[in-house]
Amino acid sequence: MGRGLFVTGTGTDAGKTYVAALMVKKLKDAGLSAGYYKAALSGAESIEKSDAGYVKKVSGISQPDETLLSYLYETAVSPHLAAKLEGNPVDLNKVRQDYMQVFHAYDYITVEGSGGIVCPIRCDDEQEILLEDIVRMLELPAVIVADAGLGTINSAVMTAEYLRNHGIQAEGVILNHYSGGVMQEDNIRMIEKLTALPILALVAEDDTELDINIERLISLYK
Ligand SMILES: Nc1ncnc2c1ncn2[C@@H]1O[C@H](COP(=O)(O)OP(=O)(O)OP(=O)(O)O)[C@@H](O)[C@H]1O
Ligand SMILES: [Mg+2]
Repeated sequence: MGRGLFVTGTGTDAGKTYVAALMVKKLKDAGLSAGYYKAALSGAESIEKSDAGYVKKVSGISQPDETLLSYLYETAVSPHLAAKLEGNPVDLNKVRQDYMQVFHAYDYITVEGSGGIVCPIRCDDEQEILLEDIVRMLELPAVIVADAGLGTINSAVMTAEYLRNHGIQAEGVILNHYSGGVMQEDNIRMIEKLTALPILALVAEDDTELDINIERLISLYK
């Protein structure tokens, strides 16, 4: 039986996959049973060439490909639109079942979101599903991956506020592309102050390890 953690970001390309891969790698290198799951992914032609394949490769986990992901769309647009164009809209029951399979097979499951925290997953005549519905359904706490540089105070605070207002427990923020300096150091302080969340780790360009204590990392998974 596992514990899960949802990795969201301040937007597409914030570095969710990059950071998730380092988290899964850290857990695996510590000898822990680590898994990965993403409900819906768009903009990839195969699992191997997707976020899921990247995380599997970097972390070295041996989780079967077909359990990493429930929905794969080729068109690089939000899942709700990709499903309109390609068919195969997301079914929450399938997401729950697929996640539970991973949940029963691994101890620590890192769950990656699509885009930022506001992401329509399905929007058709039958159903409306937002990404946050999946996070609440799976009862996952969240970490926010944000860029370390200019503009990050606004986007990190807005993401933290959104999570708080929508019933999702935020555990902290991870700053990506961190290179130090006066502004980025100030961003750390201001984000901590304005979100009341801790900065959990700083990830520099091309880092191959996540600089966080393993006990602290596993304490984020619920
Ligand atoms: N710290 C880093 N060092 C080097 N490259 C990075 C770093 N963080 C992110 N990248 C690169 O930036 C790009 C975007 O990052 P990533 O794919 O992790 O974003 P994402 O938030 O998962 O995006 P999506 O919304 O598409 O899932 C990728 O090519 C990734 O390899
Ligand atoms: Mg990604």
